Amino acid sequence: MARPLSLGVLLSGSGTNLQALIDAVAARQLDAQIAVVVSNEATAYGLVRAREHGISTEIVAHGVFRSRAAFDARLVEVLRAHGVELVVLAGFMRLVTPVLLGAFPARVVNIHPALLPAFPGLHAERQALAHGARITGVTVHFVDEHADHGPIIVQVAVPILPDDDEARLHLRIQRQEHRAYARAIQLIAEGRVRIEGRRVLIDGDTADAEAALASPPFAQRTSP
Ligand code: GRF
Repeated sequence: MARPLSLGVLLSGSGTNLQALIDAVAARQLDAQIAVVVSNEATAYGLVRAREHGISTEIVAHGVFRSRAAFDARLVEVLRAHGVELVVLAGFMRLVTPVLLGAFPARVVNIHPALLPAFPGLHAERQALAHGARITGVTVHFVDEHADHGPIIVQVAVPILPDDDEARLHLRIQRQEHRAYARAIQLIAEGRVRIEGRRVLIDGDTADAEAALASPPFAQRTSP
């Protein structure tokens, strides 16, 4: 079997997506190893999760750098020192610059809690609710120089329920995030992912031509 893909996970917060990746590796659903977890926030709970699983951690506090480029240059040093091949943004609350993207071309991925290009930026669930969308979801994409913009690898649709608030919707979206991120990274680990312009082509993609998620569901009857 091929050598596992070496991941560097960048995060700023609780790290439930990191946890899902740790679990997917342990369950042998993901042929990868997490070489290092890097945070710009010393108190990020994701660092605790990493340490509990014996994964190396590094704190790179953005405040001490003159510029975003200088901060990214330090990130590149840390990631290279750990032999990272794929950079995984998992709730990393900093915009990355060409310094990082140039060091890992087409090798930086991100996850966003909406079906991009709908609802980019912060509070995607709040935006979807405010818009009255009936379906939102999850996007895993390659990172380019624009926020929440690069070529899309995996999307998962999630219906918005009548009594949803931001917290409830967030929890359901996160459950799908945790599946989607491992899936996308596994496709990359298997060498099945190719970028062509804005499109990502996946070897052996078996999309179901008849599949659809309707909200409300097609089958629902409202009268006797
Ligand atoms: C996720 O919802 C992800 O989509 C967004 O940041 C959040 C990180 O959550 N980019 P967690 O720290 O992995 O729990």
